[in-house]
Amino acid sequence: MIKVKNLKRCFFTGKEPFWALKGVDLEINDGEFVAICGKSGSGKSTLLNLIGSLDKATEGEIWLDDYDISTLSQKKLAIIRNKMIGFVFQSFYLEPGYTVYDNVELPLILSGSTGSVNRKKVEKALELVNLSNKIKAKANTLSGGEQQRVAIARAIINDPKYIFADEPCGNLDNVNSENIMNILKKLHENGKTIVMVTHDLEDAKKAERIFTMSDGLIINNEVNQ
Ligand SMILES: Nc1ncnc2c1ncn2[C@@H]1O[C@H](COP(=O)(O)OP(=O)(O)OP(=O)(O)O)[C@@H](O)[C@H]1O
Ligand SMILES: [Mg+2]
Repeated sequence: MIKVKNLKRCFFTGKEPFWALKGVDLEINDGEFVAICGKSGSGKSTLLNLIGSLDKATEGEIWLDDYDISTLSQKKLAIIRNKMIGFVFQSFYLEPGYTVYDNVELPLILSGSTGSVNRKKVEKALELVNLSNKIKAKANTLSGGEQQRVAIARAIINDPKYIFADEPCGNLDNVNSENIMNILKKLHENGKTIVMVTHDLEDAKKAERIFTMSDGLIINNEVNQ
């Protein structure tokens, strides 16, 4: 499970220190699908990046299962990120000149896996996002919706327990957004724990629970009907 205690993040870029997170507490159970909502600047991405170990907290604890990730070494964090966490971003972040296959295989290569076992895993992940027909295409020839589906295939290739998605539909039209939401729902049904940041209340309603953030704090935590 995910357990966050009194989490704070201060940025020191301007004249004054800026507290983007002012003491966040939350718990997310294994297999849950939760959404994080709130106005622009309320701290949603800051929170997700910390839980996903992409950033360091100023204060507080972040537990992923038995690991307090706020105290782990960079080396241990890299292993946890690669094995336990899949990240999906608004702007896809594919390697544009690589093929779909090479993009999806990348986390496997980074964890030292090579050969035919990779091919099977990549094919399975692309099947799940319904993109088997694009396996040889260059990433920069795909539509936005297709690119996001490749990004999801890449995020799940190591079979991570946690999937963190920051505005995964933010750059997509309605049809592609629905497609991505259906894939996230399917992953949830397959047992993944999903934390999704979104501006879109309709998308948030597809989660089981909604955390609402304001000004660096969680101000509401409601269960969807
Ligand atoms: N690296 C940084 N340096 C300085 N300030 C930052 C940094 N990252 C975030 N902030 C500030 O922290 C606050 C929260 O930012 P964050 O990106 O978490 O908001 P958000 O809720 O994700 O907003 P949006 O919906 O626009 O993506 C903002 O005021 C932002 O300017
Ligand atoms: Mg954000």
